[in-house]
Amino acid sequence: MKVAITGSTGLFGQGLVQVVGKRHTVFSVGRAEADITKFDEVRTVLQSLHPDVVIHAAAIPSPDVCEDDPAQAYLVNVHGTRHIAEAAKEIGAAVAYISTDSVFDGEKRIPYKEDGLTIPATVYGRTKLRGEHVVAALPRHWIFRVAVLFGPGKLNFVEKGLRAVAAGQQYVVASDQLGHALYTLDGASKILEVVEKGPSGIYHLTNQGTCTRYELAKYALDRRALT
Ligand SMILES: NC(=O)c1ccc[n+]([C@@H]2O[C@H](COP(=O)([O-])OP(=O)(O)OC[C@H]3O[C@@H](n4cnc5c(N)ncnc54)[C@H](OP(=O)(O)O)[C@@H]3O)[C@@H](O)[C@H]2O)c1
Repeated sequence: MKVAITGSTGLFGQGLVQVVGKRHTVFSVGRAEADITKFDEVRTVLQSLHPDVVIHAAAIPSPDVCEDDPAQAYLVNVHGTRHIAEAAKEIGAAVAYISTDSVFDGEKRIPYKEDGLTIPATVYGRTKLRGEHVVAALPRHWIFRVAVLFGPGKLNFVEKGLRAVAAGQQYVVASDQLGHALYTLDGASKILEVVEKGPSGIYHLTNQGTCTRYELAKYALDRRALT
């Protein structure tokens, strides 16, 4: 199978390239290959690569950045996704879209199910939900909602904490948001499994157990202290 991966320089994109590349031909589609806000660039690259599947991980994933610049958030997260979907449809490629738990309001105390009511409370969540709707209109699609990501390849909040503490600095991280974290390489393996043989639809992906960002960073710190 030929698989194009957008956002391939990002945290999740790097994990996806690494894992999917072990079994399939992978094309990294970073910003250098196509700015997803420009349909012509997206179409040109997908027509020349002709992948069977596009895993669309490119986005502005920061809620703060989206809140500060909603127009840019819509341009990248909604229009960018529409460009991917339209270009994929033209070549008959399926699309796997990386989405987020931010499509929910976060008020529930128990895990959200795939068919749960989506009420995004932020610009980021609203743009990602619009992206979901775009992808869901395609004949072959998968929507993977993930929450807190951590993994190799790009500085993330766990690694930032380890580095700060190693440098004798204080590290402040949220302790009031309970969630399900996902190790990028585990997430990429599960996505690959679904893309290879799972039906179209929405999938919630997490590792087991719940934790706050603080608990996860502290756990990593304690483990590092032991090694
Ligand atoms: N990180 C999390 O905890 C988290 C949680 C839930 C869901 N997600 C979702 O997971 C996906 C991946 O997130 P991530 O953490 O891997 O993000 P990331 O590390 O910030 O990577 C984002 C990727 O998108 C690319 N990109 C942004 N704007 C682009 C544009 N206009 N054209 C082409 N490429 C563009 C970036 O390219 P450059 O490197 O060139 O900027 C980068 O490769 C996103 O869809 C996000 O919404 C992430």
